[in-house]
Amino acid sequence: MKIAIIGAGSGYMPGVIRGILHRADDLAGTELACHDIDTGNLVTMTRLARAMFSAGGAAVTVSAHTGLKAALDGASYVFTTFRPGGLAARHLDESIPLRHGVVGQETAGPGGFLMALRSVPVLLEIAAAAPDAWIVNYTNPTNVVTDAVARTTGARIIGLCDQAVGDTEMWAGLLGLPFEGLEADWTGLNHATWAQRLRLDGHDLDVPALLDELEIPGGGATPWRDPSRMAELAKTLGFLPNSYAKYYFFHDEVVAELREKGTTRAQDILAMLPAYYEQVAAESRKADPDPSRERGGGEHGEFAVDVICALHRDEGRRMIVNTRNNGAIPSLDADAIVEVPSLVERAGPVPLTMGPLPGPVRGLTQAIHAYERLASEAAVTGDRRTALQALMAHPFVRSKHTAEKILDEGLAAHRDHLPQFT
Ligand code: G6P
Ligand code: MN
Repeated sequence: MKIAIIGAGSGYMPGVIRGILHRADDLAGTELACHDIDTGNLVTMTRLARAMFSAGGAAVTVSAHTGLKAALDGASYVFTTFRPGGLAARHLDESIPLRHGVVGQETAGPGGFLMALRSVPVLLEIAAAAPDAWIVNYTNPTNVVTDAVARTTGARIIGLCDQAVGDTEMWAGLLGLPFEGLEADWTGLNHATWAQRLRLDGHDLDVPALLDELEIPGGGATPWRDPSRMAELAKTLGFLPNSYAKYYFFHDEVVAELREKGTTRAQDILAMLPAYYEQVAAESRKADPDPSRERGGGEHGEFAVDVICALHRDEGRRMIVNTRNNGAIPSLDADAIVEVPSLVERAGPVPLTMGPLPGPVRGLTQAIHAYERLASEAAVTGDRRTALQALMAHPFVRSKHTAEKILDEGLAAHRDHLPQFT
């Protein structure tokens, strides 16, 4: 079996290598074809992979590619984990909306929209070059990308996000429950999921009672999670919100905080990356490397490898992935790409029936879906009018003139990555 990784120079790669080691027996004999356009990082990560597989006794071979065709040729699984334009482009995604009073975020809102415009053309190229493979996609915004590929090509694609794992862990801490054995039915759209049901070791928990007792903690926010705001929201909503809910329900406060902070998340990451890659490169030269875990928490790599194994081995394992709704959530279109607990088997994910979205967020989630559909269409066609409609449909934006300014600045700033608009 051959797995191609597109974006293998990514800082998230050490976690992916650990994920493969963790399933080494199931993946024995696999060829890992690593592709990146950044040769330096590709060399580091492939050397690291070889060293870690050899130290861990994993029968996985590694090849390195800068050409897409050779990497994809004969691959059964194509794992996509790249960011067109890199972190410099992410900085623009995060800063352009903010100039216009809108949250600047790499996946939610207009920042994610600009990323979708760059990501979709590359994914479509990959889908066309590997028509028989399963595309296992982490490239954000994962559900917009998944929608664009699923609707416009015959390719099979499954959208991933590690949020469900990371958020469940945060909620275990907030509710004083063990993380091990805790399962939350995160349901909705990527980065806009909600959990009404929680189970511990298979037994249903009384979520409203747990939330009644929950005390709102002070502080503790990280770049990914804000337990104080999540607890505050959950007590009002009556169920658990995804961490990205803060951008919707505390939009203006977040805009003020981002402005006051002065640097974007992209700039913060760019500042830490040289030392990070230096550490990883040094480890890659050792016989038994232990690369930094600073990038890719939430079992990011393990999750992706487990999804590939579930598809390949027809495991029917219950996993939260982005796939076609097919009625699992009756309050969203049947052909929407939703994030929902699914049984992942050889033929693909089978979404489990979750019932309607809870009333307090039903309209919001439907609005986000309407935006995502338009965003996906604009990213495929390069139609400016559809792009403007998408931004106007987004709950952060609405204002036509604000949408126009963000769109014009975004298209100009990213023009080298937007062939469909030129
Ligand atoms: C979470 C999200 C990902 C996102 C990442 C960004 O894991 O689920 O979709 O890309 O955070 O993390 P970063 O460290 O790059 O800000
Ligand atoms: Mn995600």
